[in-house]
Amino acid sequence: SRTVARGADGAVTVGGLDVRDLAEEFGTPAYVLDEADFRARARAWREAFGPGADVFYAGKAFLCRAVVRWLEEEGLNLDVCTGGELATALSAGMPAERIAMHGNNKSVAEIERAVSAGVGRIVIDSFQEIARVAHVAERLGVRQKVQIRVTVGVEAHTHEFIATAHEDQKFGLALAGGQAAEAVRRALRLEWLELTGIHSHIGSQIFDMAGFEVAARRVVSLLAEIRDEHGVELPEIDLGGGLGIAYTSDDDPREPHEIAKSLGEIVTRECEAAGLAVPRLSVEPGRAIAGPTTFTLYEVGTVKPLEGLRTYVSVDGGMSDNIRTALYDAEYSVALVSRASAAEPMAARVVGKHCESGDIVVRDAYLPSDLAPGDLIAVPATGAYCRSMASNYNHVLRPPVVAVADGRARVIVRRETEEDLLRLDVG
Ligand code: LLP
Repeated sequence: SRTVARGADGAVTVGGLDVRDLAEEFGTPAYVLDEADFRARARAWREAFGPGADVFYAGKAFLCRAVVRWLEEEGLNLDVCTGGELATALSAGMPAERIAMHGNNKSVAEIERAVSAGVGRIVIDSFQEIARVAHVAERLGVRQKVQIRVTVGVEAHTHEFIATAHEDQKFGLALAGGQAAEAVRRALRLEWLELTGIHSHIGSQIFDMAGFEVAARRVVSLLAEIRDEHGVELPEIDLGGGLGIAYTSDDDPREPHEIAKSLGEIVTRECEAAGLAVPRLSVEPGRAIAGPTTFTLYEVGTVKPLEGLRTYVSVDGGMSDNIRTALYDAEYSVALVSRASAAEPMAARVVGKHCESGDIVVRDAYLPSDLAPGDLIAVPATGAYCRSMASNYNHVLRPPVVAVADGRARVIVRRETEEDLLRLDVG
């Protein structure tokens, strides 16, 4: 976060607050979120894309009511992909027309909730869903705005992209082989659907803009084909999310204004070449907004040196509050934050308290060799896909999210209690 600093005695402060005081007041582990940083990132995206485009924050990265209110105030829209995310958005007062509903297998109940709430966009992900959404829309007497999600045949990875003829994955309708064109044909025929555009999302934690360029080109070609076949120019393109953030010092993320400029230029150039009016662009960043705003604060419980290997440092959380290392082999950094240390660095692995050897938070780290039980350590960049993917494995209680702003800290998602766990256990 931008407001993280080392105080005079070597302890870290966030927004002017000492991490030792935060640990004392809120307990550990805790996700500590810098609200000013979150808002600044949201605003930077909004301003980079300007009034001619829309930024939909991807709620799957991290969603709670406070976040919805910040986004609403900062002028962003919201992408939700389940009934649960939709309920959170609506309960925090996000205007429904600023919500886009995603999901590759939305239930009829979820579609009904979205249409009756008046969401601004439903992103269609299959042939079955075209009929399902049309049916619900007709029943509720709403002409529902929809986009069709297409797979452009680009599989984006962090530093490269591989063009495949046919993508072997569950999302969207393939451009290759004409599935996407057939979906457009069917949607245009249904009077209860208003097809406004084409959607593409190529992956996540991407640094290379080349994959987006290919996606933009292919989506614009589809718009040109649609004009030629049906005589309509669809007014919107959504290029999804996926922009990478720095987890370690090796990562070199793009800034929102670079991304906006590059996407805007490609879409404009391709549309001009195809003789199309430039459609309204939207994007769906999740990680790039939420990820860097938060660190997880842990207390060290045990320190176990393994001769000739490394030292295992156990913290009071683990794979239940951050599954990403175990699931994706994700890389994180870690630092001692409750004091300064001049001790030699030691090779360390930060592990959790779960009954599983894969319960690793930070695989390879250097920590001061005088690290001891009771020290506080922090893992940065845990604002996206950590709390939102947290579990109760081993009946561990999910940590709170503490938002720091203007020199004050407040809980925006409280720590789970044993009562919370037992409430569901009704046998
Ligand atoms: N839009 C759509 C349609 C998506 O499927 C996603 C992410 C996003 C936007 C936001 O992508 P972002 O900007 O956050 O990369 N759990 C994984 C990431 C899964 C992303 C799924 N879709 C992780 O922890 O890395």
